Amino acid sequence: MAAALSAAAGRRSMAALSGGAPMDTPQKNNVTVIPTGAALGADVVGVDLSKPLSDETFRQIEDAWHSHLVLRFRGQQLDDPALLAFGQRFGELDSAPIHAGKDVVNPFPQITVMSNIKVVGKPLGNLGHYEAVWHTDMSYNDLAPIGSLLYSLEVPPAGGNTGFSNMYKAWDTLPAALKKQVLGRYCRHDSSRNSAGELRKGGTEVTDPRDAPGAMHPLVRTHPVTGKKALYVDQIYAVGIEGLKDEEARPLIDYLARHITREEFACRLRWTPGTLVMWDNRICVHKAFNDYDGHTREMIRTIVNGEVPA
Ligand code: SIN
Repeated sequence: MAAALSAAAGRRSMAALSGGAPMDTPQKNNVTVIPTGAALGADVVGVDLSKPLSDETFRQIEDAWHSHLVLRFRGQQLDDPALLAFGQRFGELDSAPIHAGKDVVNPFPQITVMSNIKVVGKPLGNLGHYEAVWHTDMSYNDLAPIGSLLYSLEVPPAGGNTGFSNMYKAWDTLPAALKKQVLGRYCRHDSSRNSAGELRKGGTEVTDPRDAPGAMHPLVRTHPVTGKKALYVDQIYAVGIEGLKDEEARPLIDYLARHITREEFACRLRWTPGTLVMWDNRICVHKAFNDYDGHTREMIRTIVNGEVPA
């Protein structure tokens, strides 16, 4: 079993690019950013992420990330270290993501395998065959992640897309009375559930959601770089609002949780093998679509550690 699982990790390493420029030579790029035309998201072309990036190229990518919130790089060939090297350009990587596939022999603690593959009946990674709910990664931490990078190794022939929604737009379009109601309020982000909304192993149900384990964050946050306000709420982790009884908070959270996923704030990205998608976890919610029964989907993810939402 362990051997089979470490073979899977080996398979990821084998995906690395061979040849090309030496690893210590920052490449000169001709980066082009092509917006999706939807409320967020852009394709970035003209860059090979398996090689070191010059500061100028990195800045172009970072600027595009701040402008478009979700960036997709197709046709990449990354192994675990290459994904980590790129991720580290944005900040310290989280080294303790919650792993469902606890038996996985993973030499890189900052990598989470997300897959529906089972080896000897056990899941190879997190998030198998179920549909995740709109969420922002690990918002239950006091230092909520600023970004997530997800790289596709194997994808189904159709389906298995990931949806993203733009929380600047969700804030901007909120009715004035509701803006007044939520501005300055703090929300509990519950750590006891996974991104499919299921109670994690060892998690306990609480009667008052404000008692749930996890962090309190403002319902409206300001991006530290763009200075723009965004709603910060989702459909799983956001469970209770400070100063409001559950019967007052629940309808408000439910309303906001529906509002953030309006079609006009969203884009849905299709994957091909060797695609890296990175998103600003402060300003997007996202959701994996489970509509690929009978097919394999295997991704690796790393998360850029966080900041206290303000
Ligand atoms: C995630 O929820 O972080 C993963 C999304 C996906 O697998 O598409």
